[in-house]
Amino acid sequence: MVGTVIGTSREDNYAPGPRGSFLVGSLRDFRSDRLLDTMEQAYAEYGDVARFHIGPRMVHLISHPDLAQEVLIKEKGTFFKIQEGTDKKIGLGLVLGEGLLTNRDQNSWFARRRMLQPVFHRRCIATMVDEMVATGQKMLSRWQELYGPKDVINIHEEMMRATLDIINRTMFGADVTGEAGKVGAAMTVLTRYAFAQAGNPFSLPTWIPTQRNKEFHRARQIIDSVVLGLIRARQATRDSGDQPRGDLLDMLLDAEDAETGKRMTDQEVLDEVKTVFAAGHETTANALTWTWLLLSEHPEVREKLKAELDMVLGGHSPTSTDIPNLRYTKQVFDEVLRLYPPVPALVRRAVRPAMLHGYEIPVASRVLISIYNIHRHPRFWEEPTRFEPERFSPERKAAHQDLAYIPFGAGQHKCIGNNFALMEGPLLLAMIAQRYELELVPERPVELEVAITMRPKEGLYVRLRPRLETV
Ligand code: HEM
Repeated sequence: MVGTVIGTSREDNYAPGPRGSFLVGSLRDFRSDRLLDTMEQAYAEYGDVARFHIGPRMVHLISHPDLAQEVLIKEKGTFFKIQEGTDKKIGLGLVLGEGLLTNRDQNSWFARRRMLQPVFHRRCIATMVDEMVATGQKMLSRWQELYGPKDVINIHEEMMRATLDIINRTMFGADVTGEAGKVGAAMTVLTRYAFAQAGNPFSLPTWIPTQRNKEFHRARQIIDSVVLGLIRARQATRDSGDQPRGDLLDMLLDAEDAETGKRMTDQEVLDEVKTVFAAGHETTANALTWTWLLLSEHPEVREKLKAELDMVLGGHSPTSTDIPNLRYTKQVFDEVLRLYPPVPALVRRAVRPAMLHGYEIPVASRVLISIYNIHRHPRFWEEPTRFEPERFSPERKAAHQDLAYIPFGAGQHKCIGNNFALMEGPLLLAMIAQRYELELVPERPVELEVAITMRPKEGLYVRLRPRLETV
């Protein structure tokens, strides 16, 4: 991040930041392979608020929990997630249509959120534990069959497969693993494309037949046809009078607006299913992948985790009654989400002029809330880069500052799937760690990239060392 510092004095009321290059400003610094460095350096050089220019756009990077509170909660009428007043779909909206994550209209988003909230209630998610565990068991059997201790496996791919399988089963009650490869790969193309397209004001429209645009359309077509096929199959079985399965798809098809009693149209169900697919598997897979990286580097945490798993599970697969006792396992997962938040930054747009930390935020400028920086802020975290799951013990957790820990965001758009992820992540972690130790392959070092989510660019490579036989 090079460039002359502008606006360093507070008199001009603009936050400090780099000038960047001629015309494009700091565009390069926001590329997927540089965003994390850019965020770290911006905090080190300019503090809690830094101002960038990306072409004609002004972007403010914020790194303090109080500022996150202002933007996400207190001033939610000033900072919008939603691109109101534009007809043009951008970024993930191109992929997920009007689903909850990308809906562009505040009123219809609100009605939909109210309708879907009960589906993701902790009580409903608790009914999905058996499906999650069954998927974990299937994965472990596959590993046992396929991999010996010398084999090198891409654990990120395995985690993607497992979490996609879980979404499939909990959504469709179906085992559609055969499609997993196709949907997973297509989803990666789509999110990379969406990130590049949303972050770059100079990106070409999707109808221009560039190689990237063609790849994008192909990937979107794969996802739409797979998902639509599954919805149609379900509607057919419901119409023929079959018993409802009570899975996520049934819940979505049955969801009604509490005020109007209205249900969703087919197109709306398609967009929500895609949204849950997209939002609900890669994030958790990334978190689990970072878990294996951190555990491989921290034998003391690994030992403590194994001791808990042996004591609570004694070699058996977990059941819902074990979950409250897997306390340290949950703390490990919480701490991974702090150091490697799968969504490292949130974006909002100022719809009217605002002030943050005494700096002017002009209308239409973007605010990037750096979850990554907030989670490593030295004022709120002692030795912030240290991996220390005990930070999340009940006593220490109670002392955390509001919004210093926001892996699921905060305010009205807070992740609707957080209960799902916090059930699924620790369950898979427990099942794998009680059976195997994962040893990093040193000749394949990990490289980070951010394409909306933070993921290992070329995967994470490990060898599986079996621990004990489970029943
Ligand atoms: C570790 C896993 C996960 C992480 C770290 C995560 C993170 C987030 C974050 C930070 C947001 C807020 C975005 C914003 O404010 O701009 C969000 C929203 C959302 N997440 Fe998650 N998520 C995870 C898992 C899931 C799962 C499992 C599902 C569904 C089953 C899901 C569905 C959604 C949806 C639908 C939204 C949009 C909510 C709205 O705008 O009303 N997420 N997620």
